[in-house]
Amino acid sequence: MASDAELPGGERLQKVLAQAGIGSRRVCEDYIEDGRVSVNGVIAHLGQRVDPEADVVEFDGSQIGVKAGLVHYLLNKPGGVVTTAQDTHGRPTVVELVPTEPRVFPVGRLDAETEGLLLLTNDGDLTHRLTHPSFGIEKEYLAEVEGAPSRGALRRLREGVELDDGMTAPAKVAQPAPNLIRLTIHEGRNRQVRRMCDAVGHPVLRLVRTRIGPLVDATLAPGEWRPLTQQEVRSLERAVGTAEDA
Ligand code: URA
Repeated sequence: MASDAELPGGERLQKVLAQAGIGSRRVCEDYIEDGRVSVNGVIAHLGQRVDPEADVVEFDGSQIGVKAGLVHYLLNKPGGVVTTAQDTHGRPTVVELVPTEPRVFPVGRLDAETEGLLLLTNDGDLTHRLTHPSFGIEKEYLAEVEGAPSRGALRRLREGVELDDGMTAPAKVAQPAPNLIRLTIHEGRNRQVRRMCDAVGHPVLRLVRTRIGPLVDATLAPGEWRPLTQQEVRSLERAVGTAEDA
């Protein structure tokens, strides 16, 4: 944090600024000298190093993003809202819940009735990686189900169940209450959680996504969104192997 900002292991401030699209490293050095850059609320000085994961870097009073022009929003999707840019049936869409400019797209999809965390961004590369099965980003869901699944049913969910498009990969499964299942999966098949719960005889009554990789937020009300912090974008990039360490 602030006191570590000059650790030898940190990154040069002008490099971090340049990576955020503020300008060339040379120009960013001038900005630092002109007092336009602060680290954790304190005016920065040339030669300073920062930990981009932990330090808050501001240019002209605004926190810098990881990449210029890219926005990343975390939305708590309410039920009844569709995860498409436009719905042919005129239902409300997730993109109507976030700023219209710049245009963003949902990362993956949640069923219309599913609630919970959804990422929207104009960062195409990150979207591709987050949705590509080979990166196996974990997603955690809380499912309220019919009945109280037995230990055997939970074991089947854990070990993999046969669906019409094949066996599911092993999942992490917990039962915080008799009719609640916390399921962590890293595949992104259509209606996967609902179909898995159906397959073990416990249809889903309510489904909420509570985590996307490293992203959690239990404070967002349904329909509310917030921009990801710089640290969160970095942690996502690290999770899919795009963090810039150079
Ligand atoms: N699994 C489902 O069944 N539905 C979703 O929306 C997400 C995962």
